[in-house]
Amino acid sequence: MARVHVETWKTTYRGIVPDARLDQMTVDRDLEGGFGRWLTDPPPGHRAFVGEADEVGVVGFAVAHPEVGHDPVFTGELGAIYVLRGWQGQGIGQSLVGSVARHLRSTGHSAMLVWVLEGNPFRRFYEKLGGEILRRELRPTAGTKLPELAYGWRELKALMEL
Ligand SMILES: CC(C)(COP(=O)(O)OP(=O)(O)OC[C@H]1O[C@@H](n2cnc3c(N)ncnc32)[C@H](O)[C@@H]1OP(=O)(O)O)[C@@H](O)C(=O)NCCC(=O)NCCS
Repeated sequence: MARVHVETWKTTYRGIVPDARLDQMTVDRDLEGGFGRWLTDPPPGHRAFVGEADEVGVVGFAVAHPEVGHDPVFTGELGAIYVLRGWQGQGIGQSLVGSVARHLRSTGHSAMLVWVLEGNPFRRFYEKLGGEILRRELRPTAGTKLPELAYGWRELKALMEL
């Protein structure tokens, strides 16, 4: 998962997140830092789902958890979703969203949101899945503050079918 996290940041966020931050990312540093701490001791209610390929291992993952800002409607959150570049566009992301939606629904959430960097071209992925833009905020990311959009789904039923 750390390999997918690091590689996907580097292939997606160049020109969006400061170069210095991307250049210093390695799997070892990721495992020693916040991502590693999250993996070994996830906060209550956090659940990860992975997509795997034979002889490659994890090629994508997504994280579901309760929404952190206490939104009264969008109580579930898609906390992260990454698929390695070479495995994108094959339905893995969509299937991970399905797993997240089913998990959130089974743990009492009927709506969810996801935060995405405004400059991320992959935000079309969420639009294709029916997400609506809820709000825009400057949020702390990678040691700086960047504009992010929250996409929301008021109803998880369609996503649960993915
Ligand atoms: C975004 C991401 C998770 C999507 O996963 P994926 O496996 O590539 O997506 P899928 O193959 O399941 O695509 C599902 C649908 O979204 C569409 N889609 C995916 N990426 C898209 C893009 N950049 N622009 C427009 N549509 C896109 C696909 O065409 C597909 O629609 P279709 O079934 O009608 O063809 C993956 O591409 C990724 O990891 N991107 C880089 C990291 C990133 O930006 N993560 C999100 C951080 S908030």
